[in-house]
Amino acid sequence: MSLPHGTSPDDLSDEFFGALDAQSLAHPESVKWQQYGEGVIPMWIADMDFPVAPPILRALEDRLTHPLGYPTTDTRLITGLQAKWKGQGLDEVPADGIHFTPSVVPALYAGIHGLTDPGDRVVTMTPIYHPFHLAIQELGREVAAARLREGEARWEIDWDALEQAAQGAKLLMLCHPHNPCGRVWDAEELRRLRDLVLAHDLRVISDELHADLSFTGGPFESFAADPRVRDRTLTVTGPCKAFNTAGLGIGVMFTHDPELLAQVRRRVTGLGGHPSALSFVMWRAALEEGQPWLSGAVEYLRGNRDFLVSFLRERLPWVRLTVPEATYLAWLDLRGHPEAGRIQDFLLEEARVAVHNGPTFAPDQQGAEYQGFVRLNFATSRALLTEALERLARALETRRG
Ligand SMILES: Cc1ncc(COP(=O)(O)O)c(C=O)c1O
Repeated sequence: MSLPHGTSPDDLSDEFFGALDAQSLAHPESVKWQQYGEGVIPMWIADMDFPVAPPILRALEDRLTHPLGYPTTDTRLITGLQAKWKGQGLDEVPADGIHFTPSVVPALYAGIHGLTDPGDRVVTMTPIYHPFHLAIQELGREVAAARLREGEARWEIDWDALEQAAQGAKLLMLCHPHNPCGRVWDAEELRRLRDLVLAHDLRVISDELHADLSFTGGPFESFAADPRVRDRTLTVTGPCKAFNTAGLGIGVMFTHDPELLAQVRRRVTGLGGHPSALSFVMWRAALEEGQPWLSGAVEYLRGNRDFLVSFLRERLPWVRLTVPEATYLAWLDLRGHPEAGRIQDFLLEEARVAVHNGPTFAPDQQGAEYQGFVRLNFATSRALLTEALERLARALETRRG
């Protein structure tokens, strides 16, 4: 069963979601829902269980009444993005510094290709969204991973580790906000990161895909907002996390230095492909008319986050969790459990809840350190989140005895 046409409200609400069960959220073409089959609550891949935002639906329906030939460069989309990025502290990004890609991951690969050579060291802060490491390794570069440090209330940068990783490196790959630790790097951290980048003459790829899903309340500050680093930074982003449109695939890479972009594009030439006409339409509608829906979605996610945190503190106080400042992903430390050595399988078998396994988010040599951690996606209905947490609590506590 899928959502009946026209049931997606402009404002997401508990009433709306409360009426939905797992069956109506599951979609036969959703990898999130199909990977582990019936009866399993999927909280792994970063998709939201939210329906398509109405302005996007309307724009797509309208576009489909016209032929689907090659699209023109969408100047309205570019103007809208330039305005949005200004709100993130960026001086106007020149149009020839902007290049659309079929999704964000190809932009990560293109950036590494264009800004480094085989054998170069590329700095990451671990644990981190796994395609960062896949891209570095598959392209024959070397991962220089600096572990993040778990602070009292949040994951923090270990500046000594980062300084060491940066020695002799060419590129820093930043995840801002950070997946899976949920950090939005603050003004002081950004300042220090920029200093470090300049001191080591690093180029930067800043993946800011989750920027719209921030709970901090303040405006999001882009890494390239400081003129000192803007010409050495390639920022990548897209609409797919905020508007749940990964199935329509579009991303963008941009920089204030058109020559930097040209260098990247020369390396990947025709391999880059182009986004679909529908994805351009979708992004423009999201940008121009999707803000009320997005605000509602962020509020709903904030509610889910707060619910998750209180549930764990009350019912599973031995589970370590720092409160995510952004994203709908929670990074849980279950190392205190007797089944920590096979925690993902245990939760799948005993709780029928699918989560991402901790070691996935580190390069091979560090993987074992994150055994016992899981990443849990809480972008679903409150009812389903509650059901999943009850199942997790039952399975974990039964085995702990
Ligand atoms: C930080 C980050 N970058 C990129 C992606 C993937 O983006 P896309 O599906 O547009 O390739 C994700 C998906 O979860 C992500 O979390």
